[in-house]
Amino acid sequence: MTGDRGRGDGAGESPSGDRIRDEWFPVARAAEVASGSWRRFELLDERYVLAAFDDGRAEAFVDTCPHRGARLSLGTFDGELIQCGYHGWQFDADGGCVRQPAHPDRRPGARACLRRVSTRLGYGFWWVCVGDRPRELPRAPMHAAHPDRTVWLDPVTVRSSGPRIIENFLDLAHFPFVHAGYLGQVPHTEVGRYRVKADDGELRLTDCVFWQPRPGPAASGGGPVRYEYSVSHPYAAVLTKIPDDGAGGFSILIAVSPIDETTCVVWRSTAVADDGADLDAQQAFNDLIFAQDIEVVESQRPRRLPTAPALESHQPADAGSLAYRKWLRDRGIEYGTVTADLDEEDR
Ligand code: FES
Ligand SMILES: [Fe+2]
Repeated sequence: MTGDRGRGDGAGESPSGDRIRDEWFPVARAAEVASGSWRRFELLDERYVLAAFDDGRAEAFVDTCPHRGARLSLGTFDGELIQCGYHGWQFDADGGCVRQPAHPDRRPGARACLRRVSTRLGYGFWWVCVGDRPRELPRAPMHAAHPDRTVWLDPVTVRSSGPRIIENFLDLAHFPFVHAGYLGQVPHTEVGRYRVKADDGELRLTDCVFWQPRPGPAASGGGPVRYEYSVSHPYAAVLTKIPDDGAGGFSILIAVSPIDETTCVVWRSTAVADDGADLDAQQAFNDLIFAQDIEVVESQRPRRLPTAPALESHQPADAGSLAYRKWLRDRGIEYGTVTADLDEEDR
């Protein structure tokens, strides 16, 4: 498979016109994209199709024919050419039109091409960037080092904004209430001070210690657990559980692909530190924990994350989420956030 190929095509502007279009988002598990197959996905208010060509390239195109706007993926793909189902125009891997059946001898003009966006592989996913200045993938060192010890969870569609989902992932104070018996337990509710640092494009929360009754699938009992969080992408984060007795450490990468500002597909994978750890048990444990989060995250109003502190009440344990909000503003991200007036979608 090929690597990073940035090529801005100006495929429409996001509603907020911010930098979100220059970020990468996962759209498929690499292992599930077979050569010669294609699949639809939606991202940033647009429909796309990811096509895996016989030559090893996986290319993503806006799923709309340049002729009369029919949905391309209603047509056919044979691993070499995409054929629109309406008038049969055919397109190659570069998105160029190579045949218009109504005029077999005519050479299609340059305007007859598909709108192609950038694709790349990383951490076992196909990622797509629809903007013309692609940034970096989120940093996930344990995933990069140990693909052999990584499990991928099924994607989940969540009716909330990307920033609400990431903020929940960074939050400690909800553990005894949403994850009772696993990541927290009353009366162990206190959130101690932790360190918040933002530099070099990365927000880090370190020295996060919380009492947990069952912090992972291999845990035999409760005790204080140490975490670190890293945010180097506005819609992604990495949680790393530091092993206190030399075992049981793992790192979870969450990356959220927005269908629109308040509906997202959540992709997750976990890399474990211990050789020989039970990956199936780790996968089941993380699925269980995330399922507990979904109901409460979908209930939050506004669905978009308020980035102006005056719009909500806060407590000292929220230092990390307040820093995340500032980090989003500093990075120029407004998509999925709200600063003042709420529209119908948020209520
Ligand atoms: S709309 Fe696709 S070929 Fe006419
Ligand atoms: Fe949670």
